[in-house]
Amino acid sequence: MRFEKKVSMVTGAGSGIGRATALRLAAEGAQVVVFDHQREAAEETARLIKDGGGMARVVAGDVRSSDDLREAVSLAVETYGGLDFLVNSAGVVTMHGLDDLTEAEWDWVVDVNLKGQFLAAKHAAPAIAARGGGAIVNLSTIEAMVVVASGPHCQPHYNASKGGVAMLTKALAHELGPKHIRVNAVAPGPVATTFSGADYTAPEVRQFLAQRMIIARAAEPEEIASVIAFLLSDDARFITGVQIPVDGGWLVH
Ligand SMILES: NC(=O)c1ccc[n+]([C@@H]2O[C@H](COP(=O)([O-])OP(=O)(O)OC[C@H]3O[C@@H](n4cnc5c(N)ncnc54)[C@H](O)[C@@H]3O)[C@@H](O)[C@H]2O)c1
Repeated sequence: MRFEKKVSMVTGAGSGIGRATALRLAAEGAQVVVFDHQREAAEETARLIKDGGGMARVVAGDVRSSDDLREAVSLAVETYGGLDFLVNSAGVVTMHGLDDLTEAEWDWVVDVNLKGQFLAAKHAAPAIAARGGGAIVNLSTIEAMVVVASGPHCQPHYNASKGGVAMLTKALAHELGPKHIRVNAVAPGPVATTFSGADYTAPEVRQFLAQRMIIARAAEPEEIASVIAFLLSDDARFITGVQIPVDGGWLVH
């Protein structure tokens, strides 16, 4: 129960890594604000938390909206008395390279993935500081460091957005350090969610992963959530401004 009496807001908590993180934090005692633009998905996460004996409230909101994020932070303060942690997991991707990538698609992916993390931190940080400090974890990806996709699956907008997340993480760690707020990122390799549309059971995908990785499989979302929980916890009290790859060894080669 590392997070007893702690309050966490998790964006993108209706699915995948965000849901697994919300469940993990709640299982360790945290009260969770489940934030996602898909209301039913968010409510399902909250139901799973409550079924496990945990505490959760839902905000159906968009990470590109200051109003929605303000509402979520207010809900945390009014319902649970404050906010200690923010996990920025909401994210989107499309598989288009330069020729096919539209301006609208660029704006959507960069706004959700990068501006969304900035806005969530902007609204959450004052509440976290008011508690005397806490921690933020941003979802990056190995694609902030290397280009994973190739051929028809180029995604320069996604690479750029997550490269931005890597530096946003350092910039916020610097700025929020004096307020005792640590800011870190996790950079997963492939994770078995519906995010990219990849079928990780398909033989050609498995073969591709086997060539690239030391642990040759997609991660389960819980294997990312456990690292996020570590970074939020007191065990990581001397870690700030870093991006930790959780990638089955992808970046080794
Ligand atoms: N799955 C992977 O292979 C992988 C690998 C590396 C990094 N990541 C990163 O991890 C994060 C989570 O990915 P996932 O695999 O859990 O994806 P997912 O699609 O399962 O979950 C993403 C969630 O974000 C929500 N969301 C999307 N746009 C939103 C918006 N504008 N406002 C609020 N919520 C919004 C979705 O409704 C969804 O519930 C993303 O930031 C992604 O870039 C994923």
